[in-house]
Amino acid sequence: MQFIDLGAQRERIRDRLKAAIDQVVDDGRYILGPQVGEFEKQLAAYVGVRHCIACANGTDALLLPLLASGIGPGDAVFVPSFTFAATAEVVALAKAEPVFVDIDPVTYNIDIASLEAAIEMIRAEGRLKPKAIIPVDLFGLGADYASLEMIAARENLIVIEDAAQAIGGSVGDKMCGSFGFVGATSFYPAKPLGCYGDGGAMFTNDDAFAEKLRSYAFHGKGATQYDNIHVGINSRLDTIQAAILIEKLAILEDEMVARQAVHQRYAEGLGDVVTVAQVAAGSRSAWAQYAIETPNRDALKAHLQEQGIPSVIYYVKPLHSQVAYRGYPRAPGGLPVSESLPDRILCLPMHPYLGTEDQDRIISTIRNFVGSNAARIAAE
Ligand SMILES: Cc1ncc(COP(=O)(O)O)c(C=O)c1O
Repeated sequence: MQFIDLGAQRERIRDRLKAAIDQVVDDGRYILGPQVGEFEKQLAAYVGVRHCIACANGTDALLLPLLASGIGPGDAVFVPSFTFAATAEVVALAKAEPVFVDIDPVTYNIDIASLEAAIEMIRAEGRLKPKAIIPVDLFGLGADYASLEMIAARENLIVIEDAAQAIGGSVGDKMCGSFGFVGATSFYPAKPLGCYGDGGAMFTNDDAFAEKLRSYAFHGKGATQYDNIHVGINSRLDTIQAAILIEKLAILEDEMVARQAVHQRYAEGLGDVVTVAQVAAGSRSAWAQYAIETPNRDALKAHLQEQGIPSVIYYVKPLHSQVAYRGYPRAPGGLPVSESLPDRILCLPMHPYLGTEDQDRIISTIRNFVGSNAARIAAE
């Protein structure tokens, strides 16, 4: 059994992928070939934005909006602590300071009260200037954008949506990636929309900012490639990856439907024995990960492993506790949810090709484990 079965997807579209790759190899336009523009157009339409700008990976997709906004020394950018390192890393790379905020215990996304307290603290201290919020759509579930956009407007902050895990997810009638001033995503192979290497993209409805992002991703180019108007970086999506992504995007909606069915089966099979992932009414998670919580997590993980069932702990440590990020500010009152969740959380196999037989085995293994544990505790 696979944690994420990329092989099943590959088998499904093998011929189309091979033809798409062959075409790129034969054409010889390996950098910024026509497939890149075509993929950008298709993904912009899917996400529902005016502009999609492809780049080399999801980390650059977060860094480039910071550079293009002029965010740097003396600036504060508010980020959740329970996320992948890239969310905070880019802020430090831009020479601004990440300010760590706690997460909501149900959605695992940035906690609004903790965010408000952190903004107030930073303003009162006066050392840093609040500039941006990077909410993360963790595990594929969109953050609370209604609240975030209200706070951002009131505090004059820009919102950079980290939708690295959430392409295919939605909140209300808007797709993840389309929230905030700019959205960022990753095409790392295991993501809901993944390529066969590194890749990323940015989304915005602002024409001038889209132009700026393209420039920063291409050595700060101006009117021509050899005209440099900004200090940028080299961050492009390979043509071959764009060709692969066009084929994968064509089946993404179908895969999203399949992921919802996997979620439903887990929720029904496990909801009374462990804490299962919750989705607010009107939202659709892209289900990059399926997380459960249980007090006996380590023993359960070991038991699953014995039964040949893979599981992963995302994340073992919140970022504000990591050596590299210990020195940065954090919301007042501490980050109790981000600190305690790593002891309870466990991510189970989740992908569109998870068969019901395999899934039922995962469910019954967990149910039996929780049941026998409860019996043992009752007998003690
Ligand atoms: C939440 C989040 N942000 C950013 C990234 C960075 O993406 P990449 O690995 O493509 O640089 C990832 C992916 O690993 C992620 O999960």
